[in-house]
Amino acid sequence: MCGIVGYIGKKEALPILIKGLRRLEYRGYDSAGVAVLDADNVTVKRVRAVGKIDTLAEKLKAETMAGTVGIAHTRWATHGGVTEDNAHPHTDCSGAVTVVHNGIIENYRELKKRLSTKHVFKSETDTEVIAHLIEAHYKGDLRLAVEMALTHVQGTYGLVVMHRDSPRKIVAARLGSPLVIGVGDKEYYVASDTSPMLAYTQQVIFLDDGEIAELTDSEVKIVNHHDQKIDKHTEQIDWDEAAAQTNGFAHFMLKEIFDQPTVIKDALRGRLQVEEGTAHLGGLNMTEEQMHKVRRVILIACGTASYAAMVGKYAFERLAGIPTEIDVASEFRYRDPIIDPHTLVFGVSQSGETADTLAALREAKRKGAYVRGIVNVVGSTMARETDGGTYIHAGPELAVASTKAYTNLIAVLIMYALQFGRTNRVTVATGQRVVNAFLEISEKMTRALKTSAAVRQIAEKYRGYKNFLFLGRGINYPVALEGSLKMKEISYIHSEAYPGGEMKHGPIALLSPEFPVVAILTKNQLYDKMRSNIEEIRARKAPLILIATEGDEDARALADDVIFVPQTMELLEPIINTIPLQLFAYHMAVLLGKDVDRPRNLAKSVTVE
Ligand code: AGP
Repeated sequence: MCGIVGYIGKKEALPILIKGLRRLEYRGYDSAGVAVLDADNVTVKRVRAVGKIDTLAEKLKAETMAGTVGIAHTRWATHGGVTEDNAHPHTDCSGAVTVVHNGIIENYRELKKRLSTKHVFKSETDTEVIAHLIEAHYKGDLRLAVEMALTHVQGTYGLVVMHRDSPRKIVAARLGSPLVIGVGDKEYYVASDTSPMLAYTQQVIFLDDGEIAELTDSEVKIVNHHDQKIDKHTEQIDWDEAAAQTNGFAHFMLKEIFDQPTVIKDALRGRLQVEEGTAHLGGLNMTEEQMHKVRRVILIACGTASYAAMVGKYAFERLAGIPTEIDVASEFRYRDPIIDPHTLVFGVSQSGETADTLAALREAKRKGAYVRGIVNVVGSTMARETDGGTYIHAGPELAVASTKAYTNLIAVLIMYALQFGRTNRVTVATGQRVVNAFLEISEKMTRALKTSAAVRQIAEKYRGYKNFLFLGRGINYPVALEGSLKMKEISYIHSEAYPGGEMKHGPIALLSPEFPVVAILTKNQLYDKMRSNIEEIRARKAPLILIATEGDEDARALADDVIFVPQTMELLEPIINTIPLQLFAYHMAVLLGKDVDRPRNLAKSVTVE
């Protein structure tokens, strides 16, 4: 969703801000803007544009924006339409205060009504009230003015502010919407995530909720809402600029699909114990005694992460024998979930910033569960708010459609299930089978990626169809769901996913020669059952694409098109079988001329409810 970048230092701010905005494009946005403070001439210049950063950059060619302090923003519209007036940065009446904001100010209507007697509003946004509130409280100290203004605000914010009369200062405040400060040599960056600063520094300070930071040329001072100073550690992050490039691939999504065999090794590294046939994820932070007492596991997630969690459910039940539920975060938080101290709740998330997942975890914590995170983004809110958990080490995932995070989330969930299983019912021999299957998985993923050219040809053949049905059974049902979601997200083709056995309870009515089916028929315990479902499809003359195990010549005879993948242990099949479906969605979207990395209406991390 919206993205923020700010800079104060010795360099010209504008190029840094524009480059930073481009790094944030992956989050999804519909307008963008920049403001630069020229300390010598004591002026603030602001330029905004609807549409892509390129449009903003084009507009900037006609401007001179000198200055070494500035803030910028990509907006994903919530309050007010997609217009230039609603784009950030926003200003107060005189243009002295300039503000960029992520989040939602819930009481902005009341505030706007109150302020309107003395202040002139120029946009329909909730954010603009903050600029006017700061104007009302400014008495020469910007940080204090921000602190005072925020006492009136209800809602969430990641907020960055400049004031023309405090020209060598930026103030940033966080409540519910992430902000990171990058520490350079006598220069500071501030952004909604680390990607805009990776080219300059890997030293960062993560702001926590309720903290306000004052950045000047020489220091960063962090206080709480009572203006008490807080000492924070500077952390070193291991993601670098290179990891956030397309590296010659046509799109981030394709690069990230092809990253998978490498990054899965990062997820597994140091966590598998071959001799003992187990995995050890230190971040669990539970004693064996506490682990034995766990009676129920709940996996909370949204979207793709929830499909990874579904695979986790199979693994926990099969290996650890612990009843496991998946809860879509937005549902969990408004039910009255039954939780006791023997419940272990995992938040499963690429970004670690998904608003619904965070709120659900807070609810679970309040009710006394053990709450842990399985997260990709280092230093994210989920990683910081949970009492333990594990990073999946997928590296920066910048395409809106999640791919490599999905397979790494699955790997970590299965390792957790194994770790629990080995404390109760899994034998060393069974544990070793899982570990050995993991040790071969990267090479098999590489083989699965070799299907890319063949998958593209299949996409060519099917590009004219308006609907698809994805089918899978058992552990491949989440694979069907994920394949269908990918297709919807980036190619905008309608698709549905069902468990194979559910077909005759309704969806089979859809089938016709105009309604192709993509089915997963790999060699596992449900092979024969799935095969029967496939016969039912053939009888309805629906075009059929199969994902089948290498060497299964029967599959070739059954289907119009077959994509062969290497065989692995059943539990690990989703890691392999999802790859051709990711490629299918990708090639289809490219052939249809869609914006693969930034599909319409979607944001990378959904930080509002
Ligand atoms: C994935 O392709 C989607 N864009 C989306 O479903 C995503 O998985 C979901 O919003 C959850 O995000 P998270 O993993 O960052 O929590």
